[in-house]
Amino acid sequence: MSFERDNIQQMTGYASGEQPDDPNTIKLNTNENPYPASPKVREVLDHFDIESLRQYPPATSLGFRQVAADLHGVRPENIIATRGGDELLRLVITTFVNPGEKIGMSYPTYSLYPVLAQIQDCPTFEVPLEEDWSVPDSFAEAMNNAGVKLTFLVNPHAPSGQLVPTSQVAELAEALNGILLIDEAYIDFADTDATSPALAVASNNVIVLRTLSKGYSLAGLRFGYGIGPESLISPMISKTRDSYNLDAIGQRIAEAALADQKHARESWEKVISERTRVHSELEDLGFNIPESQANFLLATVRAEEGMDNAESLYTKLKERHILVRYFNAPRMRDKLRITIGAPDENDRLLDAIRDLYGSR
Ligand SMILES: Cc1ncc(COP(=O)(O)O)c(C=O)c1O
Repeated sequence: MSFERDNIQQMTGYASGEQPDDPNTIKLNTNENPYPASPKVREVLDHFDIESLRQYPPATSLGFRQVAADLHGVRPENIIATRGGDELLRLVITTFVNPGEKIGMSYPTYSLYPVLAQIQDCPTFEVPLEEDWSVPDSFAEAMNNAGVKLTFLVNPHAPSGQLVPTSQVAELAEALNGILLIDEAYIDFADTDATSPALAVASNNVIVLRTLSKGYSLAGLRFGYGIGPESLISPMISKTRDSYNLDAIGQRIAEAALADQKHARESWEKVISERTRVHSELEDLGFNIPESQANFLLATVRAEEGMDNAESLYTKLKERHILVRYFNAPRMRDKLRITIGAPDENDRLLDAIRDLYGSR
């Protein structure tokens, strides 16, 4: 006999990307930033008063929320700090969606969304993206007709990297009857005048997700935040969040890293320039890749040209200690998602692929 709730028993859980211990492995599988975090992070750690750990941390991460509020031109009341963007996703569901209510998303999308919906015992409603990964014009209408309570929109889209235009995001926010969570985990690498924080704060139904995992090179820290109107942020801060969800060291590090925009921007520019190079070199090798505004590329392996299929290419790269992401899912089986690494890592990937294709 199992004590698990029925829905928990029936679910399989989220499959995280592999995290190998081997330092020689090139990790191009979980969209981490290849460049180091701000040197201010080192300063925080060097000067951290260990004695202060005796006490609980600032309960609502007010110092960090002030830095984030200043950055986005909003008030701290419009910001919630969370343990990675993932905690925000979970909080949005548990705060606003009753078990049994529908959670909407595109297909494909970030594969954690359906898992979180299952935990809350909510059915998912999926709208397929167009062939070119754009969001169909009928998206909001379909969500409304299905009675969706909460819609997830990842922008730039994962796993394609495609950017949804600002005007379309605003139209969606306006048209949806329920809440819109705009997941901007990769927005730092996009060429856009991020207007979403202002959009969210002026709305009554929009929350924007940001994370320090990608743009700020701090995936190991587990720190993210949400931006939205006080009516949506306040119940998550005061009711559904764990009372001390972020530790004292993490809060100080996150504050310092977010405040150092100059350092972060430099890393985004380097990633973007490598993205352009890797994209063009992979296309020369016969891969088909949509324009990406994120720190990864979705490369279709063209079987008709006699090239390896995506899964076997994934395996052969892994044998050479290069990890990329393969999703065994509809529309994804002929594709690999490849994170943009540092130049030498990207060179090793490109050399390995050239070598594999040359020796076919
Ligand atoms: C689309 C998307 N959203 C949110 C996240 C959450 O990231 P984190 O919990 O590390 O902030 C990720 C992480 O990979 C992601 O790919």
